[in-house]
Amino acid sequence: MAKTRIGVLTSGGDCPGLNAVIRGVCRAADKLGWEVIGFRDGFEGLLPPGDYMPLDRKNTAGIMHLGGTILGTTNRGHFVAKAGSGSKAMINPEIMAKAKQTFHNLGLTALIVIGGDGSLSTALQLSENDIPVIGVPKTIDNDLEATAMTFGFDSAVACVADALDRLHTTATSHKRVMVLEVMGRHAGWIALYGGLSGGADIILIPEIPFDFEKIAAEVSRREKEGAKSTMIVVAEGASPKQGRPLRHSTASGEHRLGGIGDLVGREVAARTEKEVRTCILGHLQRGGAPTALDRILGTRFGVKAVQLIQDGKFGTMVSYQNYQTLDVPISHAVHRLRRVDPGGQMVQTARAVEISFGD
Ligand code: F6P
Repeated sequence: MAKTRIGVLTSGGDCPGLNAVIRGVCRAADKLGWEVIGFRDGFEGLLPPGDYMPLDRKNTAGIMHLGGTILGTTNRGHFVAKAGSGSKAMINPEIMAKAKQTFHNLGLTALIVIGGDGSLSTALQLSENDIPVIGVPKTIDNDLEATAMTFGFDSAVACVADALDRLHTTATSHKRVMVLEVMGRHAGWIALYGGLSGGADIILIPEIPFDFEKIAAEVSRREKEGAKSTMIVVAEGASPKQGRPLRHSTASGEHRLGGIGDLVGREVAARTEKEVRTCILGHLQRGGAPTALDRILGTRFGVKAVQLIQDGKFGTMVSYQNYQTLDVPISHAVHRLRRVDPGGQMVQTARAVEISFGD
């Protein structure tokens, strides 16, 4: 009898921990005597004749601690199921048929899709077209519904905390205000967790529109109390009350978020006459080695994905709840984002330790 063969791909923006998932999948599959093939560059690898590599215990050894993905990824191409920030886009039926053809030609039993909201929306469409799919929740933004946590987030938060530790010393030497712009388009989880763990004084997130006057007043209050520096963390998607998130156009005509850190810096300088410096952390948050937690989460998610294939639970996504890996329908995880609750415990805790949200 032919061996069971499964496929795996990484899709969307990369994040630390992807290789830990791939390794976990291969080890769990190997124990069952299954073969694994890894598609290159996300769903694009599904286009005939298929761009893939055989994966096994040996060629996935020693990759857990590596950032990025050995399979490559893209958030562009033929399989984009999300237009802009939210509206659904249907995958071209011809492309879908080609993906099915590759899946069947390769004799696959199932496909593991490691991705965030956009990639899992694509996975859902594949599943609705009778391709047996299992999703694995990935994103540094931690904004996926139906899972308490995604892998990659902890590594991004660690990067923000480290950046704040470094910026703090120079800000204190010069008695400056330091603004750190971090990722987070629609959800402020990275800013909130990173800011809290890095000792930020002001955290600005998309869920709580801010007021420049309030930020300036907080900086002045701290100055009067003798604070030697003020650390402001701002999520790229944060915006002032009655304002909009800042976007800029690239040479290729794309619209990207960014620039809010600079604006906050300029407005604070104008209102307080303090010296202000701004730093954009950018893709440093997505690169480098995963934290221990993300290695563990990645491994658990990979192993669970194989178990779900064994149980025939197609169309589901691995979900992390109460320290357990469970499964939920992919449809429960996509097309709505898990955002910070402005009245929730995390924001209350931050306020209790005198962090201002500029509101
Ligand atoms: O969704 C993850 C994320 O890192 C966002 O926080 C960020 O806005 C975006 O991806 C950046 O994407 P790109 O890789 O296209 O620059």
